[in-house]
Amino acid sequence: MTETNSSNGVQPESFAWDAESEAAIGRVVAKYPPGKQASGVIPLLYIVQNQMGRQTGSAWIPRAAMDAVAHRLGMAPIRVYEVATFYLMFNTKPIGKWHLQVCTTTPCWLRGSDAVVEACKAATGIGAFGETSEDGLFTMTEVECLGACVNAPVLQVNDDFYEDLDADSTRQLLDALRRDAPPRPGSVTGRQTSAPAGGPTTLTTLQNLGPPPPDAVQPPRER
Ligand code: FES
Repeated sequence: MTETNSSNGVQPESFAWDAESEAAIGRVVAKYPPGKQASGVIPLLYIVQNQMGRQTGSAWIPRAAMDAVAHRLGMAPIRVYEVATFYLMFNTKPIGKWHLQVCTTTPCWLRGSDAVVEACKAATGIGAFGETSEDGLFTMTEVECLGACVNAPVLQVNDDFYEDLDADSTRQLLDALRRDAPPRPGSVTGRQTSAPAGGPTTLTTLQNLGPPPPDAVQPPRER
């Protein structure tokens, strides 16, 4: 890849797949029957974005890479542009090393996403959604429901979810990211998957029941 400095928003003039991407492309394309490889456009855009993250520290998809996807899949470039610009998860301009995707949809908002947003702003110096911090470490984006409402509020950092956040735990998370030491994803309060806060309240003795007695097993009904 020949490249001007991607962090200032200048598009690279060309894009070349690295070995890791080539291997991933091979696995994706093999899933589709001959002539249907265009169905792999979304996985290939992810592969581009991941490669850019590895190579530049900014996981985004330059125009030249969209053209490379089109060429590889035998598609018109405009078809790739349409997909890349439609989905929010594809970044079409450079972003910070840590992409803070704050869910502000109703369940997260009711559970305190405003405090998460304010903590992100205070810790990074970012003033509004869509901005990148001056040190280039953080970009903050507002996103719709991430599908983890049971543990709201939720902040997605790059590909990982952090859940049950408040202002303090968000600050601690961002401190850890700044130290390049991301904590384990999931609930920051230690909630077990999506169990109630404080632990499961049903099926708590299932593991002690053992196998059912033989007469409890019903034979299959004859048809
Ligand atoms: S509303 Fe935030 S994860 Fe669903």
